[in-house]
Amino acid sequence: MEFSELIHKRKMTRSFLRDPIPESVLDRVLDQARRVPSAGNSQGFNFVVLEGHQTSAYWDVTLPKERRETFRWPNLLDAPVIITVWASPDAYLERYSRSDKQATGLGRGIEMWATPYWLVDSSFAAMVLQLAAINEGLGVLFFGMFDKASKVAEALKVPNECLPVGTVALGWPDPSGEPPGRSATELRRPIEGGPDAVVHRGSW
Ligand SMILES: Cc1cc2nc3c(=O)[nH]c(=O)nc-3n(C[C@H](O)[C@H](O)[C@H](O)COP(=O)(O)O)c2cc1C
Repeated sequence: MEFSELIHKRKMTRSFLRDPIPESVLDRVLDQARRVPSAGNSQGFNFVVLEGHQTSAYWDVTLPKERRETFRWPNLLDAPVIITVWASPDAYLERYSRSDKQATGLGRGIEMWATPYWLVDSSFAAMVLQLAAINEGLGVLFFGMFDKASKVAEALKVPNECLPVGTVALGWPDPSGEPPGRSATELRRPIEGGPDAVVHRGSW
């Protein structure tokens, strides 16, 4: 797919078919996602991949059975793959403690960092993961773990130091459609001109 077509076609999918994702496709998506830039090449992003029946480990924690009957997107639970994304601050502290980075002082602790690059880099990885999947014809939904993050971490044996970035559901989009997302009516902000613009040239 052409890059600009990919960007313009990209939309969240909230209803999936149960059909599995071939291993070769999933492997390609994961390989592409890990090729993102990262501060000091620290690569402090981690994916916990749940396939097929393993995905129930995620849903059992985040969406108790009694809430499923009224859940707005029941076919989200049919997604054959769930990937949770976790950021590791320790990877950055270790990297920036080494001799070539020691002068930055950033290895001393996370409070030294003006920007938490572990979240930046993990977000980059989560975005490329989504684009790579869409490029394969898959649908994706990035969504939050909210107050269930620590329970998900426990269920998936994620190390304590890791921070939750979000969850990506992947699968073949259900052609029969889905109820729209709750924010679907929000307008895209204008590129420039006016107080709501995204781009500020020269200064804000
Ligand atoms: C950080 C983040 C958190 C999100 N959390 C949720 C969520 O919890 N549930 C959901 O249905 N969509 C979630 N979304 C999807 C957004 O609602 C969606 O990206 C936005 O409305 C724009 O729609 P589009 O991506 O289809 O263009 C999230 C997206 C991002 C980037």
